[in-house]
Amino acid sequence: MPETHDRPPEQFKLRLRRYDPESGDAPYWDEHTIELEPHRSVLEAVLQAKDRFDGSIGIRCSCRQAICGSCGVRVNGEPALACHTHLDAAKRGARDGVIEIEPMGNMPVIKDLIVDMDDVHWKKIRRVTPWLIAKQPVPEREYIVSKEAMVDVTQTMACIQCGACVSDCLAMEVDPGFIGPAALAKAYRFVGDPRDDQHFERLNDLAQDPQGIFDCTHCFKCVDACPKDVNPMGQIMRLRRIAIDDHHIVDQNNGERHEAAFTTLIKDNGLLWEAELLPRSYGGNSWFGKFAPPAGKELLSSLPAILKALVRGKVTPMGALKPHRIPKQDLKAVQAIYDKVESRPERYELNLYITGEDEPVKESPGDPVAAGVTHEVGGSEPAPTGAEPSDFPSSANGPQEG
Ligand code: SF4
Ligand code: SF4
Ligand code: FES
Repeated sequence: MPETHDRPPEQFKLRLRRYDPESGDAPYWDEHTIELEPHRSVLEAVLQAKDRFDGSIGIRCSCRQAICGSCGVRVNGEPALACHTHLDAAKRGARDGVIEIEPMGNMPVIKDLIVDMDDVHWKKIRRVTPWLIAKQPVPEREYIVSKEAMVDVTQTMACIQCGACVSDCLAMEVDPGFIGPAALAKAYRFVGDPRDDQHFERLNDLAQDPQGIFDCTHCFKCVDACPKDVNPMGQIMRLRRIAIDDHHIVDQNNGERHEAAFTTLIKDNGLLWEAELLPRSYGGNSWFGKFAPPAGKELLSSLPAILKALVRGKVTPMGALKPHRIPKQDLKAVQAIYDKVESRPERYELNLYITGEDEPVKESPGDPVAAGVTHEVGGSEPAPTGAEPSDFPSSANGPQEG
């Protein structure tokens, strides 16, 4: 079997989404067959089609090496960098052997595969004050920042502003005003930076905004879409945790109350009790929450959805009135997790979508991890107190697990 890069050119069929809003014509599909080595990129394929068959095909690109973020498109329905998607892989993912290439979603099309990043993506980035507001007094020389703090924000600094996460964001599809994954990841870049002077102001602003951090539906689409493993949803969850736990921000959107109600219900019942979630989120985090006027108001406005669910058999009156039950020993195990996490003196934030500490790793000869060789975060300094090797991602910037 020859090396991937030694394989001879092959023919690939492309199906391109074409649209010129200025023409007044509807979008349509256009097919071309190009010839390239299988390891070459989808971007090269589109450029060949443009060069050989139709010079009017619109695509944006610059670096051609997954750095500038300008060639974001959808390949076979999934967001991707055209220059970072091999033709053979794209063909394998095609439903009928034809590689389908479309413009990104959630942004208006300027022409063919080019979307208006200014109109959506950059507008949202500007919304989060994307620069450092320096702590005063400014030191005579440079600010000294710990390695841990820099590792913490490195993940968001890896963003190349390609818009793939914006393209796939389900919350933005429903609410185009949502600040969105890329901009909120950018916001974490400054909230996590100890040199910034406006952590509270930034968090309060993003928490109180009805289209801010609590508008994310936690769907993981941006995590999968990101070609640089920025994990935007993880950064949004971290913004929430810092806003709630460290700055005690209670937002007008009931986001903080919703989280508190959610965790209390799981702690008390082992499973989520959906019928209690709404009244507690609006009326207060206890069984009596449902009698508070804001809960009643919200219940009334949700009546059509509740009735629809009842008619379709998605909920039953008894199922709504009684909490779901799990076996006693399982409930005890769930509560033991809460006790353990809540008894810890400090929360330890990682560059991942998790919080907490692991048990100390028992030393075992010959095991470099257990022997403490990796007790470092991005350098030669020891990890923060209480942290263990398994607390850290294998690489600060490497693949993240949601
Ligand atoms: S997790 Fe949140 S920000 Fe990410 S795509 Fe889903 S709704 Fe959007
Ligand atoms: S977070 Fe990832 S997907 Fe979103 S703009 Fe940045 S690099 Fe692209
Ligand atoms: S051309 Fe720069 S990321 Fe693809």
